[in-house]
Amino acid sequence: MCGIVGYAGSKQAVPILLDGLKRLEYRGYDSAGVAVVCDGKLSVARSVGKLSNLGDLLARRPIGGLLGLGHTRWATHGGPSEANAHPHTDCAGRIAVIHNGIIENYMPLKEFLSENGHAFTSVTDTEVLPHLIEEELKGYDAAGPLSQRLTEAALADAVRAVLKKVRGAYALAAIWSRAPGVIVAAKKDSPLVIGLGERENFIASDVPALLTHTRRVVYLEDGESAVMRNDRCSFFNALGREIEKTPIVIEWDSTAAEKTGYRHFMLKEIHEQPRAVENTLRGRLFPLNDGVMTRETGLTPDMLRSTERVHILACGTSWHAGIVGKYLLERHAGISTQIETASEFRYRHPVLAPKTLVIAISQSGETADTLAAMRQAQSAGLQVLSIGNTLGAAIPRQANFNFHTYCGPECGVASTKAFAGQLTALSLLTLHAGLARGFMPDKEAHDWAEELQSLPELLRKTLKLDAQIRAIAQELSKAEHILYIGRGVNYPTALEGALKLKEISYIHAEGFAAGEMKHGPLALIDPQMPVVAIATQSDVFEKTLSNIEEAKARGARMIALCTEGERRLWGRADHILELPPVGEHFSPILNILPLQLLAYHIADLRGCDVDQPRNLAKSVTVE
Ligand code: AGP
Repeated sequence: MCGIVGYAGSKQAVPILLDGLKRLEYRGYDSAGVAVVCDGKLSVARSVGKLSNLGDLLARRPIGGLLGLGHTRWATHGGPSEANAHPHTDCAGRIAVIHNGIIENYMPLKEFLSENGHAFTSVTDTEVLPHLIEEELKGYDAAGPLSQRLTEAALADAVRAVLKKVRGAYALAAIWSRAPGVIVAAKKDSPLVIGLGERENFIASDVPALLTHTRRVVYLEDGESAVMRNDRCSFFNALGREIEKTPIVIEWDSTAAEKTGYRHFMLKEIHEQPRAVENTLRGRLFPLNDGVMTRETGLTPDMLRSTERVHILACGTSWHAGIVGKYLLERHAGISTQIETASEFRYRHPVLAPKTLVIAISQSGETADTLAAMRQAQSAGLQVLSIGNTLGAAIPRQANFNFHTYCGPECGVASTKAFAGQLTALSLLTLHAGLARGFMPDKEAHDWAEELQSLPELLRKTLKLDAQIRAIAQELSKAEHILYIGRGVNYPTALEGALKLKEISYIHAEGFAAGEMKHGPLALIDPQMPVVAIATQSDVFEKTLSNIEEAKARGARMIALCTEGERRLWGRADHILELPPVGEHFSPILNILPLQLLAYHIADLRGCDVDQPRNLAKSVTVE
């Protein structure tokens, strides 16, 4: 996710902006920039890569001013480059904007602006914002000297007018060289916080950037905006009416603040999953059939129709997501789909048929096995679609097509929100492929899209199981082995639940297809063996119920996930976790959440290093 900082005060802005951006580095970024206003002139400096590159640039070419904006960019639309780095400016170089979020309708807006003479220097969605503000302020171009009060009001009105035209998510800030004492900020669906100091004020994406200056903060709510000067800050609702906001005092230290108060990044990222799914779905559902998949990935309906098979390559959690993808693509898009770990694919001399679309799934975009496997497939003449969370990484750069998951950087080694993003992307791909191939009827496609839109709320509801899960974790934290079982799309969910537990708690855990238990694993069951069974509503619920009874009859401690209102598990499981109802095809996105929390609480109770488990790395860039 991008990082935003702003300053209005009596000190030089640049050092404060750089320090604030440094404290937001944990959010992940690939380029950075600052803009300041001084003596009626706007100055901008931007660079690719680490903040030190921006610092070096500013050391060579210092820019001064007591008011400014800073930004670290996590590339979404358009790869990492100086041209794509924020702040972005208008044609006249008087207005600068920084933005965290996605402007969904930026293409039609960009076309309108280009037709009206605006020149663009980047491929970002954000760059439409300063040009739209410029359009709103056109009337002031010819005006002579203007009062500070008038120009500040003009900028605030212009920003509000622009926000009525854009669709999407934003935390943004704008400055104008003709209003040198003011920053206008606004928020919808991306975080923005105002820091209130002594004769100085601040804006930031997150509290860590503020704590060395002030602990008195105001969080903007969706639709609200702020007009910030060095000596006062006014707040407005979506109608432009001034409102009162009560500051709160932050008690966290800066390390805790990076985790926004959560004990670990992993727990923060588990709780970020509703937002990760929301951001990955944004602008990609309705209107169906409007070519959104072609715009987003480059895959046309004809290409989807002529694809005869899919071959998914991935590792670890991404491989588990790929197995879910196989079930979805075969059952709902009618595409024969193979899935395997990239490390196996590389060395088994696979037979690759033409008209095969290879899908490489990778959160980091740097996994060596996946990168090598996709290159091998490409050298055999196949094309690769990357489903990734890190634009500009090696795998999306190597791929022929890209489908980005907007989960924001994932800091915990154990992958959580990226898995939710991958399943969301695979569901979208299945929906659009099923439609393009005439395999999924329009009514079913519409129902799918509506149900996808409901997932963030269902995830928020599922998070409410945390207290019950923490109690179960108390009971299981001393176990030496735990089995996970599931069927259909929840067989990979069982694999993923077991991986979460083993990689952060060091308890031996295995996932099995529930139907496989009688072919061997049942021998492992005894009264010391806890079993986690995924038994939410599905075509194979009764079969899974039988597997639960088989294990229970042999003394297993049974923890079962089921759908709210299901009574047939009563008396058959020692703990029952009830999840909100959802279609079987989307159930892994919900079902994995309690398993992530179970692994987290067990590992935390065992005193393990949850975010940096032993022997593991976040990105496996070696074989
Ligand atoms: C998952 O919790 C692990 N961190 C690991 O299995 C990971 O999923 C795997 O290394 C693949 O990483 P990638 O998605 O970045 O390619």
